[in-house]
Amino acid sequence: MDLLHKLLNILFSIVSIILFMLVLPILLLFRLWRFCVRSVFREKLAGKVVLITGASSGIGEHLAYEYAKHGASLVLIARREELLATVARKAMELGSPDAVVIKADVSKLLDCKRFVDEAIKHFGKVDCLINNAGTGIVGLFEEQICITDHASIMDINFWGSVNATHFALPYLKKSKGRIVVIGSCGGWFATPRVSVYNASKVAQQSFFETLRIELGSDIGITMVTLGMVDTALASDDFLTQANLKWLPKESVEGCAKAIVNSAIRGDEYLTEPGWMHAVFLWAILLPDLMYLLRRFIVVTSPKTSLQKWKSQNTASFQPLEVKHD
Ligand SMILES: NC(=O)c1ccc[n+]([C@@H]2O[C@H](COP(=O)([O-])OP(=O)(O)OC[C@H]3O[C@@H](n4cnc5c(N)ncnc54)[C@H](OP(=O)(O)O)[C@@H]3O)[C@@H](O)[C@H]2O)c1
Repeated sequence: MDLLHKLLNILFSIVSIILFMLVLPILLLFRLWRFCVRSVFREKLAGKVVLITGASSGIGEHLAYEYAKHGASLVLIARREELLATVARKAMELGSPDAVVIKADVSKLLDCKRFVDEAIKHFGKVDCLINNAGTGIVGLFEEQICITDHASIMDINFWGSVNATHFALPYLKKSKGRIVVIGSCGGWFATPRVSVYNASKVAQQSFFETLRIELGSDIGITMVTLGMVDTALASDDFLTQANLKWLPKESVEGCAKAIVNSAIRGDEYLTEPGWMHAVFLWAILLPDLMYLLRRFIVVTSPKTSLQKWKSQNTASFQPLEVKHD
């Protein structure tokens, strides 16, 4: 048996390389053709109902404005109701026939059921669900005092998307609708100082990749992988703590426009900005170099408060505390 694996180790690699060389050029041509066709026959949004979680600020807010310009009716979901009301007013000025505001916390299962039920009660259908609500905590993992604080990241970024999808699925199936998932480059490319956030985005991506296969052509899924976008989440303070202030940020308006264009084209994937594709290639082909770059640029330079403290207090260092409520 072991001999079989040894043979497969060699043969499978060789066969794979030959197959990639033959298939990749044909596949790239097919994708180009499909992109052109889809760009011409884009989905019309007038009369469609779009649910956006995390619509009170940042990317969600600007997605609302973009969908409004296309004439879609909106269901805007977040915890800050006053901000949502302002977004709804502006969306209707921009062309949305109707924008409903629902105060809800996506990390609560019953809230997700409630906002889907209310959307159906009001509009009678759902054509698109945008799983956008998200949050993050920045810092080296070993510097985190209270590990339980991080559970909310998984609850919002991962379970929030899963729960909302669970309740919207029957209606999306009926309308042959679409799910748009707002993921992060952190889900593909481990950026230090946001370990739990990255893990939540990996989980989210894996879940929706599986769902895409299970659903087939019943419901389209657009997986969005974002780099740095100029929002409250990627604030200057956050980026300084993450040692990522040198990274260029994309405008939130440009990002929202790219997402809506991608969704109405029916794309399976969108990476925004597009140059992040090259970073993924680097990560796959040059893992050692990318490890060193991330280690020295993002982790060890400049010294973190914990590293400074450790160098002064070498004895009895206890990095993690578990908070007991
Ligand atoms: N900005 C970036 O550079 C970047 C990069 C990659 C991926 N992303 C992803 O983009 C998405 C949007 O983030 P953003 O940059 O636009 O940040 P943002 O401006 O902070 O917006 C986050 C939104 O999520 C909502 N939210 C957070 N927790 C929620 C909860 N428990 N229930 C309901 N809504 C909740 C917030 O509304 P309330 O506080 O009112 O509830 C807010 O509307 C996130 O999924 C994030 O991971 C952002």
